[in-house]
Amino acid sequence: MKVLANDGVSQSGIDALNAEGFEVITTTVAQEQLINYINDKDIDVLLVRSATKVRKDIIDACPNLKIIGRGGVGMDNIDVDYARSKNLHVINTPAASSQSVAELVFAHLFGGVRFLHDANRNMPLDGDSKFNALKKNYAQGTELRGKTLGIIGFGRIGREVAKIALGVGMKVIASDKFVGKANIKVEFYNGQFINVEIETQPMKDILKHSDFITLHVPAQDEYVIGEKQFSQMKDGIGIVNAARGGVIDEVALVKAIDSGKVAFAGLDTFESEPTPAIKVLMNGKISLTPHIGAATNEAQDRIGTELASQIISILKTEKV
Ligand SMILES: NC(=O)c1ccc[n+]([C@@H]2O[C@H](COP(=O)([O-])OP(=O)(O)OC[C@H]3O[C@@H](n4cnc5c(N)ncnc54)[C@H](O)[C@@H]3O)[C@@H](O)[C@H]2O)c1
Repeated sequence: MKVLANDGVSQSGIDALNAEGFEVITTTVAQEQLINYINDKDIDVLLVRSATKVRKDIIDACPNLKIIGRGGVGMDNIDVDYARSKNLHVINTPAASSQSVAELVFAHLFGGVRFLHDANRNMPLDGDSKFNALKKNYAQGTELRGKTLGIIGFGRIGREVAKIALGVGMKVIASDKFVGKANIKVEFYNGQFINVEIETQPMKDILKHSDFITLHVPAQDEYVIGEKQFSQMKDGIGIVNAARGGVIDEVALVKAIDSGKVAFAGLDTFESEPTPAIKVLMNGKISLTPHIGAATNEAQDRIGTELASQIISILKTEKV
């Protein structure tokens, strides 16, 4: 059986598939050559990330294809319903990167409360001539322990964020359109664990009581946080968006920073990617990362091995 990993796959995934007798091809075939390649090489499984599109044309023209796999969460680049209507299996790895995103949220939070994003901009410029002035500038940091973290969107990533927050000693409150409560299992290195049940609350309570807010909702038609929501928050709040651009109104965010309502923001996702607004990029109170929430080696390994085990289990079951 042959697997074409057109946007790449981790070595751990390749090893797991090889061990079960699958041949894994990691050549990147150009989109317009894909149909010919899949048919000529008799490919059984097509793995993609976000670059390769798997539309109706490929699904119709490649009758021997059995599985389409997406390494990661969103499947906007695959005609999922159509593929399934043609009896193809469509698989993805929705949980593989949750922990990576959650850790990035805390990178922004820990950095934000000690002004690291700004200090890292100014130390190279003035660190040798204005050290004491910079020291004074960044002297009024705060701690996360004991503060309230509001999580909006209490799904896979939101719950991973809650685990870290509980470990840090924060009070965790959460809001979700559909989840009423969740059991958060915080596991320690030695096998011990604690369970904490968190009941979600109306969004207005999260806005009112949080010292920090982090968003973990899917892409929405409307802003979840705009001018009205900022006005309901505590003064000096820190806010993180590692969910999707368009979840926070960036114009309202910059305004809220200017007015002092928001002390700092951490953004991994932007309204206009890949060309974020200059006003956002140049704002000294915004900690910035270029949509790297899921991009850890560990997440890539989990994506590879999870895809491999799903492929193995589907194709082995079908053989029986
Ligand atoms: N920064 C990155 O690189 C990166 C990586 C992976 C995922 N993400 C994004 O993170 C987000 C969350 O991913 P997930 O795996 O936790 O998804 P999930 O589906 O497990 O959880 C999303 C939760 O949001 C809730 N929700 C939906 N609309 C809501 C609303 N308006 N208000 C409150 N709750 C709402 C849902 O009920 C669900 O519980 C997605 O937008 C995803 O695209 C970002």
